[in-house]
Amino acid sequence: MTKLNVNGRVQDVDVEPEMPLLWVLRDELKLAGTKYGCGIAQCGACTVHVDGHATRSCVTPVGTVVGKKIVTIEGVGAKGLSRVQKAWLENEVPQCGYCQVGMIMAASALLAKIPKPTDADIDAAMTNLCRCGTYARVRKAIHAAAGTQVAAAPALVDLPNGQKA
Ligand code: FES
Ligand code: FES
Repeated sequence: MTKLNVNGRVQDVDVEPEMPLLWVLRDELKLAGTKYGCGIAQCGACTVHVDGHATRSCVTPVGTVVGKKIVTIEGVGAKGLSRVQKAWLENEVPQCGYCQVGMIMAASALLAKIPKPTDADIDAAMTNLCRCGTYARVRKAIHAAAGTQVAAAPALVDLPNGQKA
């Protein structure tokens, strides 16, 4: 038996230590909020927190997280919406929604580490992929959750032909 601390609750699971954490969460503990995308640590759909760090659960053997604090999206929203989730709703971030749990988990870990992230901080931390292209709204929502301003778009310049670019 493997003891896992998930969302503040210690539970026993009967799995091999090399089983990816993602499948333990989804199939054994029935926490299906965490999504499977690529399975090779590229897309971030499977992101959870392990001791506060954004972690790609598809490539994390469950044996390596015994004794650590694992938090999934179910834990983030357990006591009402978090400020990140509220910012996501207010800024209408999701399109199809598939990648968004991973995005919210990555953004929450970023804000816990850097309360007022710059655009560069956001770009460095948010390596999750979104096929719907919600990146600009993700950045806006992170700034909203942090209480910071989104950088203004570059001013238009006059081209010689009279058009703006
Ligand atoms: S499913 Fe884990 S990074 Fe894509
Ligand atoms: S919202 Fe559709 S993949 Fe990101």
